Amino acid sequence: MVSDDITVESPTYIHEEEEIDYREENILLKVKMAEMKNELMRYKIPPLLVAEVIDTYPENKALVRLKNGNEFYVNVDAYLDGKLKASDEILVEQKSLTVIQKLGKKKHFDVSKYVIVERPNIRWNQIGGLKDEIEELKEVIELPLKKPELFKKIGIEPPKGILLYGPPGTGKTLLAKAAATSGNATFIEIVGSELVQKFIGQGAKLVKSIFEMAREKSPTIIFIDEIDSIAATRMDVGTSGEREVQRTFMQLLAEIDGFEPLGNVKIIAATNRIDIIDTAITRPGRFDRLVYVPTPDHAGIVEILKIHTKKMKLSAEVNLDKLAKKMKDMSGAEIRAVCVEAGYFAIRDDRFIVTAKDFSKAVAKIAVEETEKKKDLTYMG
Ligand SMILES: Nc1ncnc2c1ncn2[C@@H]1O[C@H](COP(=O)(O)OP(=O)(O)OP(=O)(O)O)[C@@H](O)[C@H]1O
Ligand SMILES: [Mg+2]
Repeated sequence: MVSDDITVESPTYIHEEEEIDYREENILLKVKMAEMKNELMRYKIPPLLVAEVIDTYPENKALVRLKNGNEFYVNVDAYLDGKLKASDEILVEQKSLTVIQKLGKKKHFDVSKYVIVERPNIRWNQIGGLKDEIEELKEVIELPLKKPELFKKIGIEPPKGILLYGPPGTGKTLLAKAAATSGNATFIEIVGSELVQKFIGQGAKLVKSIFEMAREKSPTIIFIDEIDSIAATRMDVGTSGEREVQRTFMQLLAEIDGFEPLGNVKIIAATNRIDIIDTAITRPGRFDRLVYVPTPDHAGIVEILKIHTKKMKLSAEVNLDKLAKKMKDMSGAEIRAVCVEAGYFAIRDDRFIVTAKDFSKAVAKIAVEETEKKKDLTYMG
């Protein structure tokens, strides 16, 4: 039997246990303190800069480039000796720019996330007017892609690329896509302004990767829209933004120079601003064909109307020739917009058949919208 007095603990025993408790708590607190000091230290350490190795030299030296484009000759931490090579991504200390750490192998830049890659399905006969322009694209882009041996036999080198220029909405993108369809080629589309705005500091790298991808997926047509935003003549390259555009442009020229005219990668560029294009881009061996894409003449308007009304049910009195006369100076894009609007007027009236009146209302509407847009643009400019 357990008697009551045994369960009464001796006072000395209680005292000892308390002391052990305190000691444990003390240790715990000390550990906690150390942790917090560590944490605090980490907040105090200045961040390391991300940079890229340009070249390495003996005795732990390297040439590195910061993201802003500036280059420095710096020391390399001894334990990294012999482990660095050009184009490695690294961390450098802020003040001395000593290379402290090598970042993991940079993943291959996945360009497919940033550019449009497709196999377009636009046929030549979906383009109204532009007979000569289509001929030119067939000769310069389609034929060399399809029959390179022909050029070898005759002993000439076709142009590497073509530069389409002209007012907006006249079918430049359409022409490039049709060339890709008929040449059975992958179509990689990049937009110049996006290249320099969205990918600050990455433009040149992106251009490089795009050409790499083009070779992998060949035959390929690389379509560079708004090329003026990277290839405009510049008076000076003062700001870092301008330098960045300049680097992207230089990379583009290097890539164009680097590939064979008879290889199966072709480039088509487009611009509304031929007046500001740097002549470096039109030098022989680069874009040595310039093709003007005009707004359609009367016959062209009729053809474009035919294309865009093909699937519409028109009432018998609709005369496309007469209609075209009211649409002088409209671009292909505007002509298509007229057809869509005419269709809407019919829908609002619960009809399936589109009448001449629907078209005249649509022409008036688009004409007004376009002048409004132009007014806005002049205000903005
Ligand atoms: N010649 C044409 N024949 C048939 N449709 C055309 C023609 N031109 C333009 N279009 C219509 O207008 C749309 C826009 O044309 P597109 O994108 O090719 O113009 P763009 O010249 O590239 O214009 P931007 O300079 O603004 O980029 C086309 O998708 C097409 O529906
Ligand atoms: Mg376009």
